[in-house]
Amino acid sequence: AKTLTILGLESSCDDTAAAVVRQRGTQPAEIMSSIVLGQTELHAAFGGVVPEIAARAHAEKIDICVKQALSQAGLSLSDMDAIAVTAGPGLIGGVLAGVMCAKGLSVGAGLPLIGVNHLAGHALTPRLTERIDYPYLMLLVSGGHCQFLLVRGVDDFTRLGGTIDDAPGEAFDKTARLLGLPQPGGPSVEAEARNGDPARYAFPRPLLDREGCDMSFSGLKTALLRTRDRIVDEKGGLTSVDRADLCAGFQMAVADVLAEKTRRALRLYLADAPAVAVLSVAGGVAANSLIRSKLESVAAEMGALFIAPPLSLCTDNAAMIAYAGMEKYRAGLCDDLTLAARPRWPL
Ligand code: KG4
Ligand code: ZN
Repeated sequence: AKTLTILGLESSCDDTAAAVVRQRGTQPAEIMSSIVLGQTELHAAFGGVVPEIAARAHAEKIDICVKQALSQAGLSLSDMDAIAVTAGPGLIGGVLAGVMCAKGLSVGAGLPLIGVNHLAGHALTPRLTERIDYPYLMLLVSGGHCQFLLVRGVDDFTRLGGTIDDAPGEAFDKTARLLGLPQPGGPSVEAEARNGDPARYAFPRPLLDREGCDMSFSGLKTALLRTRDRIVDEKGGLTSVDRADLCAGFQMAVADVLAEKTRRALRLYLADAPAVAVLSVAGGVAANSLIRSKLESVAAEMGALFIAPPLSLCTDNAAMIAYAGMEKYRAGLCDDLTLAARPRWPL
């Protein structure tokens, strides 16, 4: 295998990102640079990502981001072998900004163009950081997604189950909003929960009685809203202890559901007897330490290796897009200027 250097672009949600990844032959891939320009402040006043504001910010910042990624890597465009870009799924204005920029770079520098599915980027991340073989089990758990994927190859995914309503990250974000905590909700709820008693308030464990790997998280948010209102009715407000206990109870319920459904997904995956069994996680919610430790226990209990990428590679970034593009390139899966930006693109 020859040495490849790929520039990756990501702009499907609220992070504008560019990265350079290089792989010498069969050696581990190397992240030469990874720039992530967030937009949290731009959306703060609205309590969520505003698509039109996100699209404009991506369009304004994407070329600066590319420039920074190249200079941090100490390379120029002519050192690249290909340009990889997230072509969906995501907020269409942002995806378009990235795809248009990548097309321009591809034409200008005469480089192959590779459209990458954002979810495939997350799902291939463990192969960027560790030597692991297909097939492995991936729990992809973020603000917009929650699914179990059997990853068989760069372009070969089987969905074993997933959420039937909200993604857990969305539930964390809504919980934070209901309790007056800052966005993004995941880290602030986790911080509150650290001092809380998870057993004080009872939260449901939705769909645990139903077979299979499907999950549901919207009921948790409703339960939280009701409990909050009941406390406020009784006492006229929430104390900091109440808030911590609510966060701890909510987080424990999410973690329990993810752990039990992961056990079932692992059972399905292990039935095919892979040589080395691997459970991996990706997506912003995989940054949560309670969830990580529960998943780690489940993997250990079932005899699978648990591989969690570093936090900076769990959340949205362009290194994962460059790496997925590299695997596609090696497999001969390149695109041309007809590459379309797709708001929806199931794996
Ligand atoms: O993967 P990501 O950066 O963006 C996409 O949704 O694609 O994930 C962001 C989500 C947000 O909902 C955020 O609240 C959640 O991940 N998150 C967390 C934590 N850190 C980020 N959720 C729980 N615990 C955390 N520590
Ligand atoms: Zn993502």
